[in-house]
Amino acid sequence: MTAATVPGIDDAPTTNARLLSWVREVAELTRPDRIVWCDGSDAEWDRVTSQLVEAGTFVKLDEAKKPNSFWAASDPNDVARVEERTFICSVDEADAGVTNNWMAPAEMKSIMTELYRGCMAGRTMYVIPFCMGPITAEKPMLGVEITDSEYVVASMKIMTRMGASVLPLFDGPAGDDFVPALHSVGAPLEPGQQDVPWPCNETKYIVHFPEERLIWSYGSGYGGNALLGKKCYSLRIASAMARDEGWLAEHMLILKLISPEDKTYYVAAAFPSACGKTNLAMLEPTIPGWKVETLGDDIAWMRFGEDGRLYAVNPEYGFFGVAPGTNWKTNPNAMRTIERGNSLFTNVALTDDGDIWWEGMENEPSHATSWKGKDWTPADGEAGEPSSHPNSRYCTPMSQCPVLAPEWDDPKGVPISAIFFGGRRKETIPLVTESRDWQHGTFMGATLSSEKTAAATGGLGQVRRDPMAMLPFIGYNVGDYFQHWINVGKGADADKLPKIFYVNWFRRGEDGRFLWPGFGENSRVLKWAIERLEGKAAAVETAIGYVPTAEAIDMQGLDTPIEDVEAALKVDVEEWKTEIPLIEEWFDKIGAKLPTSMRDELEALKLRLGV
Ligand code: GTP
Ligand code: MN
Ligand code: MN
Repeated sequence: MTAATVPGIDDAPTTNARLLSWVREVAELTRPDRIVWCDGSDAEWDRVTSQLVEAGTFVKLDEAKKPNSFWAASDPNDVARVEERTFICSVDEADAGVTNNWMAPAEMKSIMTELYRGCMAGRTMYVIPFCMGPITAEKPMLGVEITDSEYVVASMKIMTRMGASVLPLFDGPAGDDFVPALHSVGAPLEPGQQDVPWPCNETKYIVHFPEERLIWSYGSGYGGNALLGKKCYSLRIASAMARDEGWLAEHMLILKLISPEDKTYYVAAAFPSACGKTNLAMLEPTIPGWKVETLGDDIAWMRFGEDGRLYAVNPEYGFFGVAPGTNWKTNPNAMRTIERGNSLFTNVALTDDGDIWWEGMENEPSHATSWKGKDWTPADGEAGEPSSHPNSRYCTPMSQCPVLAPEWDDPKGVPISAIFFGGRRKETIPLVTESRDWQHGTFMGATLSSEKTAAATGGLGQVRRDPMAMLPFIGYNVGDYFQHWINVGKGADADKLPKIFYVNWFRRGEDGRFLWPGFGENSRVLKWAIERLEGKAAAVETAIGYVPTAEAIDMQGLDTPIEDVEAALKVDVEEWKTEIPLIEEWFDKIGAKLPTSMRDELEALKLRLGV
């Protein structure tokens, strides 16, 4: 790399000096065989996907069934985000707070520099210029991912605006503000060494330097660990930017609701990973006359508009959705989106006729290849060996979604009328609760809890606090994050702020059945919330907030027994009394940085519950 003319550096398609010097520095450290600047073209897609087919990473699906689409199986040890290997390396440890792993930046850099040294040998280093959110934004949010993974290149084409269309922005006014994001699978090749289908390393680090707005990732090739525009940039780094600049970067879907009277409302909703965002975002309402359109299924950036309302933009360009459970009944619009092809499927089953299948999908095949690459039959499924990993994913372009809202690419965003927090709880949390005001809604978000899912490794089913569904994604101190939410509310006109609701689709009866049918039927809850905004729907004031009676919810055509709906809506004071010590424990853990207003809310709740 020290020759006079270096391909990929001296003939790089940009004049941005910061970018060029970073690319040079990374190449000198990681020693790739060659450097390729990604342009995002179809030719590049064909080249990279063919290479992945040849390497055994991808299998091309049947063109008639899923055009231009591929199946991939990861290493069985590289299947989800690795929270215990994720670090916020702020200068001051207190700024990472009690919910993040921390190491001093210099110490982390010296460890990782040694890991990166020569780590791209035998591989191609790809430079992916990308933009999170519309490229027509006043200040486009730029990033550059350097990676040695073709799988990442293909995925980033679906998930972000990238390549030739964004590169000119690096010569514009926001050009030097890009977030550098370095990724390596950590699997250098000796000359002549045969590659494996899914290169990765047992040692993994997913690291953020919030002050420098810098991301370093090593050892994993999967999802949020490797597609660095997503969780790393758009949540962890962006949340730190948002704190400094007075906006919000949140783990939220964005949807548009159109009433029978043709009134439009935009709502955002934060549920922890694998708790229903993608499903709700593409919902097909079961109540007549109501329509839903999608703007985003995972991340929302919300800034105040000139009119004082909070406007949301989805920084992403594709959906990276949980596959199992997705079917023509639960999420028909996701099924239609992937049917149009141009998609990647990771850790699902490959059918013998060149299509994909996963648990919960219609038409179970009598034989398939499992995500572990083994022969699979329904008998294996019955014996507890699923065909697909519970965190298997489809990666598909948003533009293919048949209910995509026409304004999805508008840099102004959409004005949010309501925010929903929600988690996966068997007990205690009612189907829906309306907060009293912004501070109380912030308290609901701050105390949000959920049973752990397969989207992160370890501890399946345990109840944990997941504030605003952001526990793994807050890029700074959680106490400061709550204070930031309070400040956002204080700085705004209360009438223009979104109303905050708390939902739980997952409450169960004694026999373990879901009390609420969920999915398309959730439109009934959305309708109640909208009618609350309009001052039209009834609610009962309870210790925890405003809760509808079963009669206040539109039950027409719903075949769930009314007793179940009542049980789903119940505010059980005894259950809440057992919740209080858990909230206290959580607040004690946050310690001195917990805003006093959150303590005040807890004390007021205790008083109302009589504890
Ligand atoms: P990430 O993409 O990981 O952030 O998760 P997500 O919030 O988008 O999760 P997703 O919508 O993919 O939901 C995944 C799981 O929740 C699947 O097992 C679904 O079947 C289940 N689910 C979603 N909505 C509902 C619902 O309304 N009721 C019930 N019972 N299950 C639901
Ligand atoms: Mn998510
Ligand atoms: Mn999702």
